Amino acid sequence: MFFFRVLAAALLAQTTLALTPAAHTASGLPVFLAPSGSRVQPSGRNMEVFAPNGTLIHTFENVIPNNLKTKRQPTLARRQDLSSTEAYAQFNTTPDNFIQSFNTTFVIPPAPTTFDSQIIFLSANVQVLDADGVPFGNLRAALQYGGSWVQGGPFWTYAIQLELPPSGFLQVTNIGADPTLEAGQRIVNTIVADTEFNQETPGTFWYIASFDNVPDAPTLEVGWEAPPQIAALQLEEEGVSQASDYPAGSFVFEQINLNLTSGAPTISWTTSVDPTTDVQVKVDVDGSQNAQVSIVFPSA
Ligand SMILES: *[C@@H]1O[C@H](CO)[C@@H](O)[C@H](O)[C@H]1NC(C)=O
Ligand SMILES: *[C@@H]1O[C@H](CO)[C@@H](O)[C@H](O)[C@H]1NC(C)=O
Ligand SMILES: *[C@@H]1O[C@H](CO)[C@@H](O)[C@H](O)[C@H]1NC(C)=O
Repeated sequence: MFFFRVLAAALLAQTTLALTPAAHTASGLPVFLAPSGSRVQPSGRNMEVFAPNGTLIHTFENVIPNNLKTKRQPTLARRQDLSSTEAYAQFNTTPDNFIQSFNTTFVIPPAPTTFDSQIIFLSANVQVLDADGVPFGNLRAALQYGGSWVQGGPFWTYAIQLELPPSGFLQVTNIGADPTLEAGQRIVNTIVADTEFNQETPGTFWYIASFDNVPDAPTLEVGWEAPPQIAALQLEEEGVSQASDYPAGSFVFEQINLNLTSGAPTISWTTSVDPTTDVQVKVDVDGSQNAQVSIVFPSA
């Protein structure tokens, strides 16, 4: 009897190996925090979060779709999940030709002149799609304005996140680091394939998101059994009620460079605007090399 109790306790300890949500989004999705340098990897239909010291700290259960095709993916029209304002490119990536790196730089704009508890995310991200073209994972390096579930206020901060729709978010933090960014600062944003790890674990495609030139900014590494098919430059917002809740003018993603493992692809950015906002997206320079995309905010 005692033995079984010990065994049950051990099993229980294993299954309760989970982080407590640090917060919830406005729509009620949990947000978990992990230390910078954490790795998230697939295991069956789960995504497991390992701290930099190798300890499994959290499991997102059943977040990988059943219908994931890991071999050769047909070209699919992407299905829009949420209404958002973005420029995106879709690739028929394969295990032999996947996104090698996706970089951009931008200058932090002045803060909006009014703060109504709105939250704004401006991100470069890569997304994995299921066999129906629905995204089930989004790794992003984001600039945040406003107070989130875990940080911020009426100022700019950085946020590196993995979104696992519809299960929630993982955000990485560096203990003691101040995520605040200043207007006028130029930020380098990179999402790069981890070549070494890809070779060590064939069939898993690893990506590291970081802000290269920001001291103390965290990094997050995520592996998927299918290479991401979407690269996007995106604006998401919640709670904006007037033009002055946005920064004035435009936010410009500059020096956008995206290479596949085979080199620079010929691409054209597709834009999509959230019809409930007055924000526009402009592709100033198209293509995969030194491209430029502007998010144009309504004038106050
Ligand atoms: C490993 O890192 C996790 C997360 O930071 C921490 O909770 C745990 O105590 C660490 N374990 C060891 C053995 O250092
Ligand atoms: C993106 O940035 C990384 C890190 O600086 C660099 O290694 C890579 O070559 C860059 N990729 C492109 C396409 O410019
Ligand atoms: C991206 O691909 C282009 C064309 O194949 C190549 O000239 C360039 O050096 C590549 N950039 C990186 C950073 O690998």
